[in-house]
Amino acid sequence: MQVDGIPLRTIWPVAGARAVDIIDQTALPHAFRVRRLHGLEDAVEAIRSMLVRGAPLIGVTAAYGIALAVARRADDESLLAAVRLLAATRPTAVNLCWALARMQSRLLPLPAAARAVAAWREAVAIADEDVEQCRRIGAHGLQWLLAARRGERRLEIMTHCNAGWLATVDRGTALAPVYAAVEAGIDIHVWVSETRPRNQGLLTAWELRQQGVPHTVIADNAAGLLLMRGGIDAVIVGADRIAANGDVANKIGTCLKALAARAASVPFVVAAPRSTIDFTCADGAAIPIEERAGDELRLLHGCDAAGLPGELRQLPPTATVANPAFDITPASLVDHIISERGCCTPDRLRALHPEEADG
Ligand code: MRU
Repeated sequence: MQVDGIPLRTIWPVAGARAVDIIDQTALPHAFRVRRLHGLEDAVEAIRSMLVRGAPLIGVTAAYGIALAVARRADDESLLAAVRLLAATRPTAVNLCWALARMQSRLLPLPAAARAVAAWREAVAIADEDVEQCRRIGAHGLQWLLAARRGERRLEIMTHCNAGWLATVDRGTALAPVYAAVEAGIDIHVWVSETRPRNQGLLTAWELRQQGVPHTVIADNAAGLLLMRGGIDAVIVGADRIAANGDVANKIGTCLKALAARAASVPFVVAAPRSTIDFTCADGAAIPIEERAGDELRLLHGCDAAGLPGELRQLPPTATVANPAFDITPASLVDHIISERGCCTPDRLRALHPEEADG
């Protein structure tokens, strides 16, 4: 995808240095900043403080975090400690543990002296595979969109949170079909919900603006009205973890959209790579839900009249708040799941992944 017309990924290795550059997503949409990760601690902090976010990108950052860690200390104990540290950063997106398990099983059998080079290669491979998976999700999603299209009028899509380029390495999951449609010359427009309290919808608006995709930002609470009015062809969201039965964990507010979509007979679609599916979780009740700091609700972030970024307090520091970051949309409300393998109904998830043992 592009920033000011320049093609860019969200994370990339620094040429000639054991370091990785990322886009600081906490500064967006007000400022575009690149941050350099030099070691394991930087990667841990980047994930924990949401400099990087979105399930696939969290996984890729963790893989680079391991590469940065073993570049310094490659013995078994240090490797396993790095895996544990990264695994504890955020609980819901399963891509994190998926990437860490892959790095561990690739590196542990190797002699310590061979691990630094192998870790770097594996992290690069995971990042490249993510790009290819998102491209395929886009192609499958576009086929789905064309089949769902009613007549020749502009396609109207609603999304929630940011499951675009910024949440992956490139192209995104939920937004990949949108970008594929634009590339195919199809007229498309995206309704973007703000996604309180972290406002990831503003990241979606920023990246769509950068790619020149028509979109409109709405308050989260406007989604029900728009869906019930008609005129929305599909709701497409990403996922942080999909349980074996097709229940979907995604950004808080997703379930409300799925309920409204079902009431309005609008298809509700989840786009996610294989690394987001957790066949060890029987259903959504087994998915851990991240509870984030209350100040995410008590404080508002934005720019002042002079355009300088800052915070505004909307609740006193002692106000009791609850801040669950994700919710579970039951499989019964999900019409289709689109992965790099293709498109299926939630009950066909295992059939789409025949290599998974029956469970
Ligand atoms: O808390 P975040 O911003 O990491 O949450 C992101 C989401 O919920 C996304 O919808 C999900 O990770 C899918 S990203 C392709």
